[in-house]
Amino acid sequence: MISYETYKVLHLVSILFLFTGLAISFYSANAPKIIKIVTGIATLLTLVAGMGLMARLGIGHTGGWPTWIIVKMIIWFIVGIGGAVVAKRFPKYGKPAYWIFMGLFVVAAFFAVNKY
Ligand code: HEM
Repeated sequence: MISYETYKVLHLVSILFLFTGLAISFYSANAPKIIKIVTGIATLLTLVAGMGLMARLGIGHTGGWPTWIIVKMIIWFIVGIGGAVVAKRFPKYGKPAYWIFMGLFVVAAFFAVNKY
């Protein structure tokens, strides 16, 4: 069984790869394919590890989520899915997206720590 601590390390490391991978894609004219692959994997692992942490904290996966989880799910969707779309389809919006995503990171971290 994967421990709470292992899920937390996986969650934080995935988040780091997700945000740095997007930053590279947004700020370079042609990011190497490996960056896009790693960013995609990190997007998925951020969610999987987040779900694992929910399980270890006894938060059910079938809805009835606390506000902080809902907020983080929305942020994950905007950053993970929205980020991939911006990088692929709307690269000229990459630079503003980077700053918006940094703001969303702060919001996600705030909700994760304070659990409102
Ligand atoms: C890009 C989006 C996300 C960011 C930036 C983010 C950020 C963080 C951070 C910084 C922590 C550590 C907080 C602490 O040490 O207390 C954390 C913990 C956590 N996150 Fe996320 N997260 C994201 C997405 C998600 C998603 C999608 C889920 C659910 C599927 C999730 C569920 C959790 C849980 C359950 C914890 C553990 C809280 C605890 O240990 O008390 N996160 N997240």
